[in-house]
Amino acid sequence: MVAEDLEMSLAASLAAMASLDAAGLEDVRLQWLGKAGILTGRLKALGAMTPEARKAEGAALNDCKERLNQALSARRAALDEEALAARLERERIDVTAPARPEPVGAIHPISRTLEEITAIFGAMGFTVKEGPDIEDDWHAFGALNIPGHHPARAMMDTFYLNASLGNRPALLRPHTSSVQVRTMLTQAPPIRIIVPGRTYRSDHDATHSPMFHQTEGLVIGRDITLGHLKGCLIDFLRMFFGNPALPVRFRASYFPFTEPSMEVDIGWNRKTGEIGKGGDWLEILGSGMVHPNVLANCGIDPREFQGFAFGVGIERITMLKHGIADLRLFYESDVRWLRHYGAAPLSPAMLHEGV
Ligand code: PHE
Repeated sequence: MVAEDLEMSLAASLAAMASLDAAGLEDVRLQWLGKAGILTGRLKALGAMTPEARKAEGAALNDCKERLNQALSARRAALDEEALAARLERERIDVTAPARPEPVGAIHPISRTLEEITAIFGAMGFTVKEGPDIEDDWHAFGALNIPGHHPARAMMDTFYLNASLGNRPALLRPHTSSVQVRTMLTQAPPIRIIVPGRTYRSDHDATHSPMFHQTEGLVIGRDITLGHLKGCLIDFLRMFFGNPALPVRFRASYFPFTEPSMEVDIGWNRKTGEIGKGGDWLEILGSGMVHPNVLANCGIDPREFQGFAFGVGIERITMLKHGIADLRLFYESDVRWLRHYGAAPLSPAMLHEGV
């Protein structure tokens, strides 16, 4: 063969490739196929040959070129594979290593109770209303038929601010009942709302905090009766405490903004704290039929409409449900306490499971 003289050095080059890296391979390529490469020179020389000689020499040179290129790309592929294998080895992940513990948060019991209350009343067709924490004394007291001499107006209960809203004294709302007023003033009956929110009173001990939470309820319609009030609150309490047989008692009481008014008690055991049995009664919330004066103050004709209202302390029912002894712990931001009493963040309150 015409290019036989190349065979020896080509075979040497091909054999040497097995130990070359990418740069070494490039040197070999240039040595043969670069501008001044061995094959390049021989290919150029073809032009000056006789047709027969050119045919034979050309075929042989092309054969050399092909073998060289094949060997080069085979070696490059092998190098790539080696590099990948090395990298996989280097970046290997030990899937058997124990997981690093990630900090998982918990839903605060107060938030959880608010979620549960919203789920229960939501299923009964109530919507959620909110109102301002800073109120004037008409929305907090006057419109609610609480006369100027009523003890709830005294400084010891209510935080008055050194300011006024419009020309009325400003204060931190001592109950969520002010949002009843705001709703009736802006929304025509029928009304069916709950009002979860913060409330403030000048009190501080194991069962009272100057800031606490309430949920108000208000239902107004043409034919809303005390029977509706009782049915609604009995259902709520039984659902909330997860006891379909929970004893519930309505006890005549007094609130300036309801007539008649009733405290609602649930059955419990005074000695063990167990809820639902034991023959003792525990006061749990205030309720009543909305006073005609309140309806009239809020622009609703009491001869045409009537309804009921209630107010429940969130800390109180949360403490009872979970056996929390001291209300102050709710606000101490102790993670150990939260981990114990908090709710799983990814399991929202849903009625079909019981709240
Ligand atoms: N606002 C009353 C309180 O804070 C609770 C209540 C609300 C009572 C509505 C009757 C009707 O104690």
